[in-house]
Parts: sequence; structure tokens; C-alpha cells
Amino acid sequence: MVASPIVKWAGGKSRLLSQYQAYLPTQFKRYFEPFAGGAAMFFWLRGQRAPFSATLSDSNQELVNCYQVVQERPQPLLDRLRQMSERHTPDYYYQVRAELPADEVARAARLIYLNKTCYNGLYRVNSSGHFNVPMGRYKNPSIVQEEKIWAAHTALQGVTLNTRPFDKAAAVARKGDFVYLDPPYQPLNPTSSFTSYTKDSFGEPQQRLLAQIFKRLVRRGCQVMLSNSDSEFVQELYCEFERIEVQAPRFINSKSDKRSAIKELLILGRPAENLSK
Ligand SMILES: C[S@@+](CC[C@H](N)C(=O)[O-])C[C@H]1O[C@@H](n2cnc3c(N)ncnc32)[C@H](O)[C@@H]1O
Repeated sequence: MVASPIVKWAGGKSRLLSQYQAYLPTQFKRYFEPFAGGAAMFFWLRGQRAPFSATLSDSNQELVNCYQVVQERPQPLLDRLRQMSERHTPDYYYQVRAELPADEVARAARLIYLNKTCYNGLYRVNSSGHFNVPMGRYKNPSIVQEEKIWAAHTALQGVTLNTRPFDKAAAVARKGDFVYLDPPYQPLNPTSSFTSYTKDSFGEPQQRLLAQIFKRLVRRGCQVMLSNSDSEFVQELYCEFERIEVQAPRFINSKSDKRSAIKELLILGRPAENLSK
């Protein structure tokens, strides 16, 4: 089975990869993904490129712990998920949501269980860092995705996994490395943003710091790609770089299965001769 994200994540890139494909480097030394989230780009590259060394990081420590457990202890994780799946009821959901176990395998299983059973399947925390999503209304949530976990386990072999802020994570990239940056998006209007991946917010100061890091990485000889919203602020921050418009599918509203598309940006920071298009 080809590896793909094991959790549904806000801002996940699975549905945009076909539009990104033409701009991805064909060759690179090492791969860095400092805003890993569901790591759609990483899993996709694993199936598309020759074996490469990779570092995935995120400031969400529950998510990084989950990848570490998938990497090292997939079987105990699956056993635990199976037990949770058998106990799944509304009462059990809220009991799991209220407690953060100390054991790493139990914490990883908790994250996956909540992700598969919560409303909309999105990880979101409140200002104190507590997961606060109500239970979703799925008839048969797919809690134990055995093949997916084993495929991710294989893809994650040899990968360095870190809980760290993006500036520290990006600092170690060198000439010839490929860095994909997918930060929380700059909101198009004050209410349009999803910024609750962790208890810390991601505002204009963080976007400016990220743009500085982007420039530094390009100067150092890294191949850099960054996803963000198509706002005036983002256009200005990256005005000296090539900005590609992509169409991101969106549900028109939560009750409808009709979709529209919203324009987003893919920003390229690397010499033209390295592009496949
Ligand atoms: C847009 S999502 C990435 C989605 C991912 N590309 C995917 O395919 O699922 C942004 C991620 O950045 C992480 N994040 C937020 N602030 C951060 C920071 N200061 N440093 C590192 N990661 C951060 C969030 O936890 C979230 O997982």
C-alpha cells in the first residue's frame, strides 16, 4: 500500500499535490518539513522519489509523538486502537477526550481515535491547549486502519522526528536540501482562519519571520516551497519570488456536498533550472 496521511489535518495538502507536482524538485539531498501536520507531501514524495533522508517536525507534540509511535511501535498502537474501537460510545469519547495518558502509545492511540471520531475529523485545541472538538456523527468510524499504519511505519523508517518551532527546524537545512513550508495560513479576513493547531497563535510576526527564513534558505542554496493564502500581505512578503496560483477545493457550506474553489499561493524559492517545469 502506498503511504498517505494517517490523520485528517486542517490544511492537509493531499488534494493539492497534483497541482504542486510540476513544481517539485526532481532531485534533492535531504527533505525538511517544519510544519508537518498530516505530512501529505512527505508521504507522497516517498512513493515518487528515490529513497531520501527526511526530517519532519511540528510544534504539536501530540502529533509528533504519534509519528514516533507509528515509526517504532506500530503493533502495540494497533492493539490499543482495536480496544478503543470496541469501546467507542459517546461516553467513552468524552472520557478519552478529558484525559491525557502518560504512556506514549496510549497518547498516540488517543490522538488517532479522537481524529477518526470527532466532528469533522479535525484536531483543534483551545487556548489552554486542550483538545475541544465534540464527537462526530459517523455510523462506522474507521478507527483501526491497519494497512495505513503499516504503510506509514515503512515510510517513516530512518526519518528524524522533532517537536520544535519552525525557525529551529528550518535552521539546519543546507545547500541542495528541499524544504517544504506549510504554515497556518494568513487569514483572508479576521474570521476566516483556522489557527488552533496548538495553543500558540500564528500571526503577522510569525509570517514575517517565516518570510525571512524562506529568503535565508534560498540564499543558502536550498530549494524551498511554501503554501499560503492569496492575501495582499502574503503577496507582498514574497514579492521577489515566483508565486503560482492554485485552486483549493472547498465545501460551500457544512450542509452541502457542493464544492467551490478558492485561490491559494504556492511560492517557489529556487533557481529556475531545478524546476521540472
Ligand atoms: C497547514 S498545517 C500543515 C498541514 C500539512 N502540510 C498536511 O499536509 O497535513 C500547519 C501545521 O503547522 C503547525 N504549527 C503551527 N505553528 C507552528 C510553529 N510555530 N512551528 C512549527 N509548527 C507549527 C501546526 O501544528 C500544523 O500541524
